[in-house]
Amino acid sequence: MVISISKEQNYSIAAADYLEKTISAISKTKEKVFIALSGGSTPLPILEEIRKRELNWEQFYFFMVDERTVPINDPDSNFGAISKVFMDHISSKSYSMVQENMTNEGSIFNYLAIMKDLMPHNEAGFPVFDLMLLGMGDDGHTASLFPGTLALDENEKVVVENYVPQLNTSRITLTYPTILSAKELVVLIKGEAKRQIYEDIVAKTGASYPIQKIAFERNDLKWIIQD
Ligand code: 6PG
Repeated sequence: MVISISKEQNYSIAAADYLEKTISAISKTKEKVFIALSGGSTPLPILEEIRKRELNWEQFYFFMVDERTVPINDPDSNFGAISKVFMDHISSKSYSMVQENMTNEGSIFNYLAIMKDLMPHNEAGFPVFDLMLLGMGDDGHTASLFPGTLALDENEKVVVENYVPQLNTSRITLTYPTILSAKELVVLIKGEAKRQIYEDIVAKTGASYPIQKIAFERNDLKWIIQD
């Protein structure tokens, strides 16, 4: 399903309007709402907008879809950037993938334990997010599932460290099975390059992008796209 945002509209405000409606509706059906947020630049103005909306923030528990392996106060930290514009302004609980006093392995173990403790898990043992907000890179990556990286083949673990040669760095990322276990999946598509990738995926041109697996397995995936 495509949520089209016209060129005349402000993408961040229109996306915030849609997401406010979505999370407000979810919050009326259950006490605790578990949401996973992606990093990158697109979500930041959207989250900055949503934080102004009247929502019962105590019901919401925010997790990360992926993270750079840097301290939270590093400019590259997804959790750090999202906390600045969003988490620090609302009364929701939020959980960082990276713990500064831990190794990457320790941070992953810690993150898994928090999800196990707080969240419902499906029969396959994956945490079930009520909503997951995904981005997409110009190479069709999503989360930190980059083209040609090992995490693309991970079908058992919930969260993994993934070395990304094209960035010469390691990331921590939710895996495909965890992403596909989410009840609602929304992808933020802004800009012509990303729109073209979306068109390729829909037209099944044969090009292969990491996000494609999600698009093909979840026809209820919601694409928020600027025309
Ligand atoms: C990250 C993200 C990543 C992001 C895309 C799009 O850590 O970079 O999680 O997957 O969603 O790269 O990023 P932009 O929104 O900045 O284009």
